[in-house]
Amino acid sequence: MIIAVDGPTASGKGTIAKALAAHFGLPHLDTGLLYRAVGLQCLLDGGNPDDPAAALAACTFPDTLLGDPELRSEETGGLASRVSIHPPVRKALYERQRSFATQPGGAVLDGRDIGTVIAPEADVKLFVTASVESRARRRFLEMQEQGRSVSLEEIAGNLARRDERDRGRDDAPLVAAPDAVVIDTSRLRREEAIAAAIAAVHAAR
Ligand code: C5P
Repeated sequence: MIIAVDGPTASGKGTIAKALAAHFGLPHLDTGLLYRAVGLQCLLDGGNPDDPAAALAACTFPDTLLGDPELRSEETGGLASRVSIHPPVRKALYERQRSFATQPGGAVLDGRDIGTVIAPEADVKLFVTASVESRARRRFLEMQEQGRSVSLEEIAGNLARRDERDRGRDDAPLVAAPDAVVIDTSRLRREEAIAAAIAAVHAAR
Protein backbone atom coordinates (compact mmCIF):
# COMPACT_ATOMS: atom_id res chain seq x y z
CA MET A 1 0.00 0.00 0.00
CA ILE A 2 1.37 3.40 -1.00
CA ILE A 3 0.08 6.35 1.01
CA ALA A 4 0.78 9.84 -0.39
CA VAL A 5 0.45 12.77 2.01
CA ASP A 6 0.77 16.21 0.43
CA GLY A 7 0.13 19.70 1.69
CA PRO A 8 1.64 23.08 2.56
CA THR A 9 4.18 23.85 5.27
CA ALA A 10 3.06 23.33 8.88
CA SER A 11 -0.29 21.86 7.86
CA GLY A 12 0.32 18.81 10.02
CA LYS A 13 1.16 16.54 7.09
CA GLY A 14 4.43 15.35 8.65
CA THR A 15 2.74 14.44 11.93
CA ILE A 16 -0.01 12.63 10.04
CA ALA A 17 2.42 10.78 7.77
CA LYS A 18 4.49 9.62 10.73
CA ALA A 19 1.40 8.45 12.61
CA LEU A 20 0.06 6.58 9.56
CA ALA A 21 3.40 4.85 9.06
CA ALA A 22 3.42 3.70 12.69
CA HIS A 23 -0.24 2.65 12.58
CA PHE A 24 0.02 0.64 9.37
CA GLY A 25 3.60 -0.57 9.94
CA LEU A 26 5.00 1.11 6.82
CA PRO A 27 8.32 2.88 6.22
CA HIS A 28 8.08 6.67 5.97
CA LEU A 29 9.97 9.24 3.89
CA ASP A 30 9.72 12.98 4.56
CA THR A 31 10.61 14.17 1.06
CA GLY A 32 10.92 17.80 2.22
CA LEU A 33 14.16 16.76 3.93
CA LEU A 34 15.71 15.96 0.54
CA TYR A 35 14.94 19.45 -0.80
CA ARG A 36 16.13 20.95 2.48
CA ALA A 37 19.42 19.04 2.16
CA VAL A 38 19.89 20.43 -1.36
CA GLY A 39 19.19 23.96 -0.09
CA LEU A 40 21.59 23.62 2.82
CA GLN A 41 24.32 22.02 0.68
CA CYS A 42 23.97 24.87 -1.81
CA LEU A 43 24.49 27.35 1.02
CA LEU A 44 27.53 25.41 2.30
CA ASP A 45 28.95 25.40 -1.24
CA GLY A 46 28.50 29.16 -1.40
CA GLY A 47 26.15 28.72 -4.37
CA ASN A 48 23.11 30.79 -5.25
CA PRO A 49 19.93 28.70 -4.67
CA ASP A 50 18.18 30.60 -7.47
CA ASP A 51 20.80 29.44 -9.97
CA PRO A 52 19.72 26.07 -11.45
CA ALA A 53 23.33 24.89 -12.01
CA ALA A 54 24.38 25.64 -8.42
CA ALA A 55 21.22 23.98 -7.06
CA LEU A 56 21.74 20.91 -9.23
CA ALA A 57 25.36 20.58 -8.08
CA ALA A 58 24.09 20.53 -4.47
CA CYS A 59 21.96 17.43 -5.19
CA THR A 60 25.04 15.31 -4.49
CA PHE A 61 24.81 16.19 -0.77
CA PRO A 62 26.19 13.48 1.54
CA ASP A 63 23.55 11.37 3.36
CA THR A 64 25.05 12.50 6.68
CA LEU A 65 23.58 15.96 5.97
CA LEU A 66 20.09 14.46 6.48
CA GLY A 67 20.86 14.26 10.20
CA ASP A 68 21.92 17.92 10.51
CA PRO A 69 19.65 19.82 12.95
CA GLU A 70 20.00 22.92 10.75
CA LEU A 71 17.93 21.05 8.16
CA ARG A 72 14.72 21.76 10.09
CA SER A 73 15.18 25.51 10.45
CA GLU A 74 12.92 28.10 8.82
CA GLU A 75 15.92 29.43 6.88
CA THR A 76 16.63 26.02 5.36
CA GLY A 77 12.92 25.65 4.54
CA GLY A 78 13.14 28.88 2.56
CA LEU A 79 16.26 27.67 0.72
CA ALA A 80 14.51 24.36 -0.02
CA SER A 81 11.58 26.10 -1.62
CA ARG A 82 13.97 28.12 -3.82
CA VAL A 83 16.02 25.14 -5.06
CA SER A 84 12.89 23.03 -5.53
CA ILE A 85 11.66 25.36 -8.30
CA HIS A 86 14.35 24.08 -10.72
CA PRO A 87 13.19 21.11 -12.82
CA PRO A 88 16.71 19.51 -12.92
CA VAL A 89 16.70 19.43 -9.10
CA ARG A 90 13.29 17.74 -9.01
CA LYS A 91 14.49 15.27 -11.63
CA ALA A 92 17.64 14.49 -9.66
CA LEU A 93 15.60 13.66 -6.54
CA TYR A 94 12.89 11.74 -8.40
CA GLU A 95 14.46 8.26 -8.49
CA ARG A 96 15.24 8.17 -4.79
CA GLN A 97 11.64 9.03 -3.91
CA ARG A 98 10.18 6.76 -6.57
CA SER A 99 12.12 3.70 -5.42
CA PHE A 100 11.14 4.40 -1.81
CA ALA A 101 7.48 4.59 -2.86
CA THR A 102 7.57 1.38 -4.87
CA GLN A 103 9.46 -0.80 -2.39
CA PRO A 104 7.79 -4.14 -1.69
CA GLY A 105 5.25 -3.86 1.12
CA GLY A 106 4.46 -0.22 0.50
CA ALA A 107 5.39 3.10 2.07
CA VAL A 108 4.16 6.46 3.32
CA LEU A 109 5.66 9.56 1.70
CA ASP A 110 4.90 13.15 2.52
CA GLY A 111 5.67 16.23 0.45
CA ARG A 112 4.10 18.45 -2.18
CA ASP A 113 3.88 16.28 -5.31
CA ILE A 114 3.69 12.70 -4.06
CA GLY A 115 0.12 12.06 -5.22
CA THR A 116 0.58 13.99 -8.47
CA VAL A 117 4.13 13.18 -9.66
CA ILE A 118 6.09 10.72 -7.50
CA ALA A 119 3.38 8.11 -6.96
CA PRO A 120 0.27 9.01 -8.97
CA GLU A 121 -0.83 5.39 -8.58
CA ALA A 122 -0.83 5.65 -4.75
CA ASP A 123 -3.59 3.64 -3.09
CA VAL A 124 -4.43 6.49 -0.77
CA LYS A 125 -3.85 10.21 -1.35
CA LEU A 126 -4.34 12.73 1.41
CA PHE A 127 -4.08 16.48 0.98
CA VAL A 128 -3.54 18.01 4.41
CA THR A 129 -4.19 21.71 4.65
CA ALA A 130 -4.99 24.46 7.18
CA SER A 131 -5.43 28.23 7.23
CA VAL A 132 -2.26 30.35 7.17
CA GLU A 133 -3.20 31.69 10.62
CA SER A 134 -3.44 28.30 12.27
CA ARG A 135 -0.27 27.06 10.56
CA ALA A 136 1.63 30.15 11.66
CA ARG A 137 0.38 29.77 15.22
CA ARG A 138 1.47 26.13 15.30
CA ARG A 139 4.90 26.89 13.93
CA PHE A 140 5.22 29.80 16.38
CA LEU A 141 4.49 27.56 19.39
CA GLU A 142 6.90 24.92 18.07
CA MET A 143 9.67 27.49 17.79
CA GLN A 144 8.93 28.95 21.20
CA GLU A 145 9.33 25.46 22.65
CA GLN A 146 12.73 25.27 20.98
CA GLY A 147 13.61 28.59 22.61
CA ARG A 148 13.77 30.45 19.29
CA SER A 149 12.57 34.00 19.15
CA VAL A 150 10.69 34.73 15.96
CA SER A 151 7.55 36.85 15.75
CA LEU A 152 4.21 35.43 14.67
CA GLU A 153 4.06 38.00 11.87
CA GLU A 154 7.44 36.96 10.57
CA ILE A 155 6.41 33.31 10.53
CA ALA A 156 3.10 34.06 8.81
CA GLY A 157 4.95 36.12 6.19
CA ASN A 158 7.44 33.30 5.56
CA LEU A 159 4.66 30.74 5.25
CA ALA A 160 2.71 32.85 2.80
CA ARG A 161 5.82 33.43 0.67
CA ARG A 162 6.66 29.73 0.68
CA ASP A 163 3.06 28.77 -0.22
CA GLU A 164 3.07 31.20 -3.10
CA ARG A 165 6.34 29.82 -4.46
CA ASP A 166 5.26 26.18 -4.06
CA ARG A 167 1.82 26.74 -5.61
CA GLY A 168 3.00 29.02 -8.39
CA ARG A 169 5.91 27.04 -9.82
CA ASP A 170 5.53 25.44 -13.25
CA ASP A 171 7.08 22.07 -12.41
CA ALA A 172 5.11 19.94 -9.91
CA PRO A 173 3.28 22.79 -8.16
CA LEU A 174 1.63 22.18 -4.81
CA VAL A 175 -1.89 21.12 -5.71
CA ALA A 176 -4.27 18.45 -4.45
CA ALA A 177 -4.53 15.43 -6.77
CA PRO A 178 -8.09 15.21 -8.14
CA ASP A 179 -8.57 11.94 -6.25
CA ALA A 180 -7.07 13.14 -2.94
CA VAL A 181 -9.02 13.24 0.30
CA VAL A 182 -8.67 16.74 1.77
CA ILE A 183 -8.14 17.02 5.52
CA ASP A 184 -8.33 20.55 6.90
CA THR A 185 -6.56 20.55 10.25
CA SER A 186 -7.30 24.22 11.14
CA ARG A 187 -9.76 23.25 13.85
CA LEU A 188 -8.53 19.77 14.66
CA ARG A 189 -6.39 18.68 17.57
CA ARG A 190 -3.44 16.46 16.76
CA GLU A 191 -5.24 13.24 17.76
CA GLU A 192 -8.35 14.22 15.79
CA ALA A 193 -6.31 14.89 12.66
CA ILE A 194 -4.57 11.52 12.97
CA ALA A 195 -7.91 9.73 13.50
CA ALA A 196 -9.35 11.45 10.42
CA ALA A 197 -6.36 10.32 8.36
CA ILE A 198 -6.58 6.72 9.56
CA ALA A 199 -10.31 6.70 8.75
CA ALA A 200 -9.57 8.09 5.27
CA VAL A 201 -7.03 5.31 4.62
CA HIS A 202 -9.53 2.64 5.68
CA ALA A 203 -12.23 4.22 3.50
CA ALA A 204 -9.96 4.42 0.45
CA ARG A 205 -8.77 0.83 0.55
O1 C5P B 1 7.88 19.99 3.76
P1 C5P B 1 9.03 20.92 3.97
O2 C5P B 1 8.63 22.22 4.59
O3 C5P B 1 10.16 20.27 4.69
O4 C5P B 1 9.57 21.24 2.51
C1 C5P B 1 10.51 22.25 2.26
C2 C5P B 1 10.35 22.75 0.83
O5 C5P B 1 10.75 21.72 -0.06
C3 C5P B 1 8.93 23.09 0.42
O6 C5P B 1 8.59 24.43 0.70
C4 C5P B 1 8.91 22.81 -1.08
O7 C5P B 1 9.33 23.94 -1.80
C5 C5P B 1 9.95 21.72 -1.24
N1 C5P B 1 9.36 20.40 -1.47
C6 C5P B 1 8.96 20.09 -2.75
N2 C5P B 1 8.47 18.86 -3.03
C7 C5P B 1 8.34 17.93 -2.06
C8 C5P B 1 8.73 18.24 -0.72
C9 C5P B 1 9.22 19.51 -0.46
O8 C5P B 1 9.05 20.92 -3.64
N3 C5P B 1 7.87 16.72 -2.38
